[in-house]
Amino acid sequence: MNKGPLLFLGIFLTLAFSWTGIVLTNHLTVGQIGTYIDAETGTAFPQAVPGLAQQGKRVYQELGCLYCHTQQVRRPGFGADDLRGWGERQSVPRDYVQQERLLLGTMRTGPDLMNVGARPLNAEWHYKHLLDPQITSPGSNMAPFPFLFEMRKIVGQPSPKALQGLPPQYAPPAGFELVPTHRAEALVAYLLSLKHEFDYPESIPVNTSGGKK
Ligand code: HEC
Repeated sequence: MNKGPLLFLGIFLTLAFSWTGIVLTNHLTVGQIGTYIDAETGTAFPQAVPGLAQQGKRVYQELGCLYCHTQQVRRPGFGADDLRGWGERQSVPRDYVQQERLLLGTMRTGPDLMNVGARPLNAEWHYKHLLDPQITSPGSNMAPFPFLFEMRKIVGQPSPKALQGLPPQYAPPAGFELVPTHRAEALVAYLLSLKHEFDYPESIPVNTSGGKK
């Protein structure tokens, strides 16, 4: 007996079923979500990210930050993300609508970075942390990224961008300065741009008992 048509039908149904489950249902539920206009200020959220930060996102991808950091906060009561200070509310699909490529990540060797720009960590802190995490966070097992900085001879005036207040073992010798490269500046602009704090109707924090906060 020729089982060809039956086999074809089986394969077709399997593919159609998975396509419906993986592509179609997601497209129907989240495919139409756009930015949200805040009625009070008229501002659209999530806000567009400046160009330098866009370049920094590529640096983030190239350096593999994704392998140790996620960008997705679980809702309060579902893990301890809020207690760790990673965000007051869960991440929702709308948080990502401005992004062509999502860097959700799966490994949390380090903290979630979805809202790192909202933490009291300024550019100076980020530069020192990237140069060597031991400077700001002793005992950290994050990799250092010293190649994001350039040691150069001071010619004329010292650069206003040069890192200041480094511990002696990192301080450049007299007559030299340590300056962030363009990649470092872009990466830090990206980190500072990461904040998703606006409460969309669908993102209102839910507490453990299931009620609204
Ligand atoms: C090997 C894993 C690993 C990699 C790769 C890594 N990190 Fe980390 N990161 C950590 C750990 C662990 C911590 C917590 C300790 C600390 O602050 O250094 C951390 C902390 C941080 C923090 C501080 C967050 C906070 O709220 O305190 C930032 C910002 C950060 N990493 C950015 C980056 C960036 C940007 C990259 C890529 C250039 C990167 N990390 C790559 C492991 C990693």
